[in-house]
Amino acid sequence: MTPLAELFPAGDFRFHLTLRRGEPAEFFKARDGSGRVLGERAKWLAETPARYAALLPEGEPLLAEVDELGMTDWGLPKTTSVHGLGAVLEPDFLLLSPDATGAFRLRGGALCFPTGWALEEKLGHTLDFIHGVVPGLNPALASPIHQFLTKLKPGVAFLRDNWGITADEELNQHPVRALPSPVLPVALDRLWLRVEHQALVALPRTGGVLFGIRIALHRLDQVAQDAEIRTGLKRALVSMPAEVAAYKRLDAVRASVAGLLG
Ligand code: HEM
Repeated sequence: MTPLAELFPAGDFRFHLTLRRGEPAEFFKARDGSGRVLGERAKWLAETPARYAALLPEGEPLLAEVDELGMTDWGLPKTTSVHGLGAVLEPDFLLLSPDATGAFRLRGGALCFPTGWALEEKLGHTLDFIHGVVPGLNPALASPIHQFLTKLKPGVAFLRDNWGITADEELNQHPVRALPSPVLPVALDRLWLRVEHQALVALPRTGGVLFGIRIALHRLDQVAQDAEIRTGLKRALVSMPAEVAAYKRLDAVRASVAGLLG
């Protein structure tokens, strides 16, 4: 199976906590030789700094630990702010740490390429609150996610992916931009499979968690040439609960897209 086809495991659509092991340095190091990604990050961070990066006081020691790792292990220059780090790292990054009750809370980060959410609305909140808008996610996975984060082993990047379908190639899908969701009539060459490649890395000195997100966009007519992706995506679209399709902004088009996939 190709890596992209693994986004669509056999069976009906469901949220899952499947994690692979990877190298933190491999995930965070620069890959984009064109400089386009860092250029766009710098643009958003300069244009509206408070919208795309933020740090609560509880996040300061977490940032310092990430900065240390970045310099020693990932070959990054020293930075002292979320804005600085956000401009030199290609992936978005978020910092979490447990509160007095053990619940993980979002303490800060740089998020230039959000998939439809705003950092300022989630900052300081627990992961359960953050995931509360995703229909069915907490009942299925809140407890396994908490267990997993509590026991996170240092030195490893635990990798997972989310996917969606967008009507444009914009990396930055911040809600304030109000980019249109896919509408009828659909054409596969005007739709993109948006993949969020995610990495969870323990910060052993502070007890925090670094959450990295890299966006990849694939035009749907191109990925649909792979028979496994075509059938897997079709199965996911058809079997997805209605409220999940609405959350993913695919309710108007999913039947038509599934039809085009054969
Ligand atoms: C192992 C852990 C995690 C799992 C299994 C998980 C799973 C998911 C899933 C399935 C979605 C729905 C995406 C979709 O289908 O379109 C989602 C959304 C989201 N997750 Fe997670 N997640 C995890 C960790 C995290 C962490 C550490 C953060 C840190 C802030 C986070 C923040 C979010 C946000 C902001 C959304 C979008 C919510 C919105 O639309 O407002 N997740 N997550």
